[in-house]
Amino acid sequence: MSQSGPRTRWLTRRRLARCHNVADLRALARRRLPRAVFNYLDGAAEDEATLQRNRSAFGRHAFSPRVLVDVGELDLATTVLGQRIELPLILAPCGLARLIHTDGEVAAARAAHRAGTVPMLSTMGSTTIEDLAERTDGPLWYQIYVWRDRGLLRGFLERARESGYKALCLTVDSPVVGRRDRDLRGRTDPPGVNLRTCGTRAGFWICCAGRGWACPTCCRGSPAIWPAWAASPPGASILR
Ligand SMILES: Cc1cc2nc3c(=O)[nH]c(=O)nc-3n(C[C@H](O)[C@H](O)[C@H](O)COP(=O)(O)O)c2cc1C
Repeated sequence: MSQSGPRTRWLTRRRLARCHNVADLRALARRRLPRAVFNYLDGAAEDEATLQRNRSAFGRHAFSPRVLVDVGELDLATTVLGQRIELPLILAPCGLARLIHTDGEVAAARAAHRAGTVPMLSTMGSTTIEDLAERTDGPLWYQIYVWRDRGLLRGFLERARESGYKALCLTVDSPVVGRRDRDLRGRTDPPGVNLRTCGTRAGFWICCAGRGWACPTCCRGSPAIWPAWAASPPGASILR
């Protein structure tokens, strides 16, 4: 649960009330987040051609309105891996969610549960497997990579099982970390800070300076945004 004060909560509510769609939320995030963090969230591989193709593919779909149809009882529920969900969407794994908001994975998981669906914790999550399970009530799934170090892999799997996670998502498309042109350009703002350096305590503070985003996040002891990573040292290699 966020511990922000009444004024911060009021400001947040006011900002969110002005957002009417995803584009508005994106514009707000762009204003509020340090550039390195925004680029992590919003950016994509290389020159982002695939991202643009994906967006325009969605744009080619349209809902066909069906009028004069009884919509008194709509049911979007379905079953995935034996789990009933109330709408045909699940939350894809998103690493380091607490970079973006101090409540990160916990807030996202609670929102997913309220909507009747399942959140998935990333192996690169910034909330531990156990913490997320303790602080949320609904079903949880866990995303895993095929780590070259099988002991590390086993450790993650055992922790997920002991904490009651119901299913695993195996990510197989990340044998190497992709090159992201936007991140390479972003390294000049602020000087020396990119996604890697803003994960260190000093880098995090520098990265935050200059945008109001920093205070609520850092004042709650959040520079240690890597708790889930503690067991998986950055650079630990994964199988191809
Ligand atoms: C900010 C961000 C962080 C992500 N982190 C992870 C991750 O930790 N593990 C993973 O398997 N996928 C991760 N993904 C990939 C997403 O889970 C998803 O597969 C991908 O974004 C494609 O879905 P989309 O087209 O709806 O964005 C991440 C994506 C984004 C945008």
